[in-house]
Amino acid sequence: MFDWLGTALPETSTMAPRVETLFAFIELFSIVSGVIIVAGLGYFIWRYRRKGSDDKTPYIEGHRPTEIGVSLVLFVFVMVMFTWGYVDYYSMLRAPANSLEINVIGKQWLWEFQYANGKKTINELRVPLGQPVKLIMTSDDVLHSFYIPNFRIKQDLIPGQYTTLWFEATKAGHQIALCAEYCGTSHSNMHADVIVMQPQDFVDWLEGFTTAEALEGQEGLEAPGGHSLVEEGIELFRTKGCLACHSLGKEELVGPSMEGLFGRERQLQEGEAVRVDENYLRESMMEPLRKVVKGYPPVMPTYKGQLSEEELNALIALIKSLKKE
Ligand code: CUA
Repeated sequence: MFDWLGTALPETSTMAPRVETLFAFIELFSIVSGVIIVAGLGYFIWRYRRKGSDDKTPYIEGHRPTEIGVSLVLFVFVMVMFTWGYVDYYSMLRAPANSLEINVIGKQWLWEFQYANGKKTINELRVPLGQPVKLIMTSDDVLHSFYIPNFRIKQDLIPGQYTTLWFEATKAGHQIALCAEYCGTSHSNMHADVIVMQPQDFVDWLEGFTTAEALEGQEGLEAPGGHSLVEEGIELFRTKGCLACHSLGKEELVGPSMEGLFGRERQLQEGEAVRVDENYLRESMMEPLRKVVKGYPPVMPTYKGQLSEEELNALIALIKSLKKE
């Protein structure tokens, strides 16, 4: 309806028309109020002009009903914009529970994508059409920002923590993803190709594609050798010594068992509560003494500098897989 007000960018996600409609509303409101203000200004200049050399400036008092009326009408419009924006932003932040999760790592200067089955791609994000996709993102070095203009979504990637972004593509084909946060020399070259595939083609690709292909020519990144993230997580759990204190089953050792941990609310020693999510798990490995769960001794050593972002994703994937349904 308001196409003439829009940005002329294709709209290829479920969020895009929503952003576009709100944008058109705000723009239309700005145009109408701009016209009213300028026309009013012109009218008053004409109405109260100096009519002759003996013309005296009249003493004008305020008009309370008009003042209150104008303020109220503007207040209502601004609150409509706020509420509308809040509702859209809220649904942008909350991915549907059945979303396909993909890990994203931003690095100077490339995008790395890790799928649950261990597949990794560089600067190429393949997703199924018509299915919600949740990106769990972090940065290896400095701030980056993942931005898909045609989807109308954007989110910063922050070193040392996870942020998320979700979308549902509504059109098959290629889209471009950009880095929208200045991150050094090659910032402007930090693109990824977003390929929206028919669901069955996506499954075929996900299961048949060899990681070595995607990694060809990319030095310093090794293929996971056909292990899923969870399998890689189990391997790490063993080799990094986690098993000495944490069991993956029911057994309680020095530290909490990992079974059914994800998504639970835990009571801390200081009395506050914390929900076990990706950020809490990450913090517990990097700064284990910061938020110790009540009833456990504060003895865990830090794993800072000992785990790569990819390994952290694998460990978290493992812990998430032990979630109780
Ligand atoms: Cu990464 Cu700009």
